[in-house]
Amino acid sequence: MTKKKILITCALPYVNNIPHLGNIIQVLSADVFARYQRHTQNEVLYVCGTDEHGTTTESIALKEGLSPQEICDKYYKKHKEIYEWFNISFDYFGRTSTHYHHEITQDLFLKAYNNGYIFEKDLEQTYCPKCEKFLADRFVEGTCPHCGSNNARGDQCEDCSKVLDAKELIDPCCTICGSAATIRTSRHLFLDLPKLSDKLEPWITGKRNWSANARNFSLGWIHEGLEPRCITRDLQWGVKVPLEGWDNKVFYVWFDACIGYISITADYAARTNDDWKRWWKDPDVDLYQFMGKDNVPFHTIMFPATLMAADDGYILVHQLSSTEYLNYEGGAFSKSRGRGIFGNDVIDTSIPVDVWRYYIYINRPEKSDVDFTWEDFQKRNNEELVGNLGNFIYRALTFVNKYYGGVVPDVDDEERDTAFYQEVGATIDQMASDIGSARLKSGLKLLMKLARMGNQFFQEDEPWKNESRRPHTIKTALNLCATMAIAMEPYLPETAEKVWNMLKAQGDVHTSPWDQARRPMFSGGERIASPVMLFKKLEDKTISSLKTRYSGKKQAQKKEESSMIQYDDFAKCDFRVGYVESAERVEGSKKLLKLIVDIGDEKRQLVAGLAEFYAPESIQGKKIVMIANLEPAKLFGIESQGMLLAAEKGDSVSLLTVESDIEPGAKVR
Ligand code: MF3
Ligand code: ZN
Repeated sequence: MTKKKILITCALPYVNNIPHLGNIIQVLSADVFARYQRHTQNEVLYVCGTDEHGTTTESIALKEGLSPQEICDKYYKKHKEIYEWFNISFDYFGRTSTHYHHEITQDLFLKAYNNGYIFEKDLEQTYCPKCEKFLADRFVEGTCPHCGSNNARGDQCEDCSKVLDAKELIDPCCTICGSAATIRTSRHLFLDLPKLSDKLEPWITGKRNWSANARNFSLGWIHEGLEPRCITRDLQWGVKVPLEGWDNKVFYVWFDACIGYISITADYAARTNDDWKRWWKDPDVDLYQFMGKDNVPFHTIMFPATLMAADDGYILVHQLSSTEYLNYEGGAFSKSRGRGIFGNDVIDTSIPVDVWRYYIYINRPEKSDVDFTWEDFQKRNNEELVGNLGNFIYRALTFVNKYYGGVVPDVDDEERDTAFYQEVGATIDQMASDIGSARLKSGLKLLMKLARMGNQFFQEDEPWKNESRRPHTIKTALNLCATMAIAMEPYLPETAEKVWNMLKAQGDVHTSPWDQARRPMFSGGERIASPVMLFKKLEDKTISSLKTRYSGKKQAQKKEESSMIQYDDFAKCDFRVGYVESAERVEGSKKLLKLIVDIGDEKRQLVAGLAEFYAPESIQGKKIVMIANLEPAKLFGIESQGMLLAAEKGDSVSLLTVESDIEPGAKVR
C-alpha cells in the first residue's frame, strides 16, 4: 500500500456557546476517521478549532461585559475541555483569532482581488445615527409591513412570522439605544461567484466519490445560477479588509471561517517546525471534511470558490461527509431553557465517555434526523455494550483464567477455527472499507457483528462441557478479542486500551497497524490478566432522573415560581404622585417626551415614550403616578430619573392620573 497524506477537518464550532450532543457529532465523526487512518500507513493531520468572529461574538461580549477577545478566550477553553473529555484526537485544536489567520485570510483575499474575482457595490442598510453603527438584522425593531404588529425584528415578524428585510420595517428603531434608525448606503465587497461557475461546475461534476446528495445539491445550486456573495460586514471584530478606505469593515465570518482550516494548520506547523504548505499545497494530499448538513454549501461552493479565485496552488476538498441533525427527546436542544444535554452535562453524568461515543456513532444521523432519547440510550448500553460486546470479552477472559490459569492454550487450529478466522478477516476488511469511505455507522455495526459472532461461537462450542474443543474455542476467542481491541479503537479508544491491557498485548493499541487485526495475535503460551467488566448496566432510576434533570422543566418551573414576588419586594417600590410642570418633545425622537415633574420635596426629569399619544401641552398640569426610587436610565442620551405609570390601550397608552386635590409627593400604595 502506498503512503498517503490525509488531511482531516471538522467544521469549526462557533466559539460563543457550549456545544451540545448534536454539535459534538462532527468532531466525533472526524475522530473515528482520523484514528482509523492512524492504523494505516498514511500520514495523518486532524485539525479543528473555534470559529471566533462575527456579530454574535460582539453582542455576547456586550452582554457579558467582556471584550470580544476575552469572550473568545473564555469559551475556547470550555470547548477544548469538552473535546478532551471526549478523547478527540486532534493533532491540533486552534482558533481563528490568531495572526496567522488574519494574514492568510488577507493574502487569499488580495490574490482573489488581483485576479479580478472581487468587485465593490453599494448596499442599502439600516443604520443608527446615534450609535453610529450599521445594524445587523436582529438589532433593528419596528412595525411589520404585513400585519402591522410592533413586534417585528429586522429578519422576521414575531407575530405573523413573515421573513423580512430590515429595510421594509415601518418606523425602524435601534434596539441598542432605542432611537430611530435610518437607511444608509454602505460599500461592500463581493466574491464574483457567477464568474467562478465555469470552474466550479466541472470540478464538482468530476467528484464521483462524493455522496449523490452532496454532489447533486451542489450542482443544483450552480445550475440555478450563483449570485455574487457579499464578503464584508460593518463590524469591528474580525479580519480587516486590507484595502485603503475600508477601515470600518471586516470580512464576513463565513468568508474567513473556512480559511481557519488553513491558518490553524499554519499555527500548528509553526509550533512543530513543520511547513503548513506541505499539507495545503501538495496535490497528493487528500482533504477530508466533516460537517453538518447546513454547512455543505460553504464547503462545496464558497470555500472552493475562494481558493479557485486566489489560484495559488491550494488543494480542494477530496471527500466530504455531512450529517443530518440530532434532536433531543422530540425537540430541539435549548441552552436557555435547560433542555437537552450539552458537553458539560455529559461530563457531569459520570457515564463513561465510550458509552457516549458509542451512542452517538450508532445513531449518527447519516440519512435523516435522529432523536436522542434516554430510553434508547439505556437500551443500547444495556443490550449492546453490556450484553453483547462487554459480555463476549469478559467471557473469553474468564474462561482462560478459570481453565488454564490465564495462559493461552497452545493448540493447533481446527477446521472450525480456520473458517472462523476467515470470516473475522472478511469482516475486518469490510470495516476498513466502510470507515475509509466515512460510512461510520456501518463500520461500528460490523464491530458489533464481530462480538455477536464471538458469542455465538462460544455458545455453539460449549467450552464449559466440550473438553476436546475447549482449548481451541478459548484460544480462538482470545484472538478475536485482540482483533476487536484494534478494530474498536477508532470508536471506543478507552475501552480498546482496557482490553489491550487485559490481554497484555505488546505495543500501543492506538497505533497498531490495522493489518494486525487480521492476524491471530496469540499462538499459545502467552499469559494474560484477569478480566474486569468493561461496561455497567444503566438502571431505570438513573435514567429517569437524568431524563428529568435535562428536560428543561425544572427551569420553566423555577421561572414560574420566581414570577411571584413577596410583599417586601412590593414595599420596596416608592410610588409617588407627581405634578407635571412642563413637557416637551425630545429632539430627533418620534416617541419620546421629556417631562419635569414635581414630587413635593424635589423635581425630577423623566423621559417617556408618550409622544405618539399625547401632545406635550396636554400633559402639562396633570398629576401622574411615578416610581421614584428606580435607578436612573439614559434614553436618547437624556437621563430619566424615574418612570411614570400608564395603562396599555391597544396600540396606544393612557396615563394614570389622580384627583386634583392630592398633593404632589403623596405616597401611592
Ligand atoms: N461555525 C460554523 C458552524 O458551527 C461552521 C464553520 S465551518 C468553517 O456552523 F468551515 F467555516 F469553519
Ligand atoms: Zn442606536
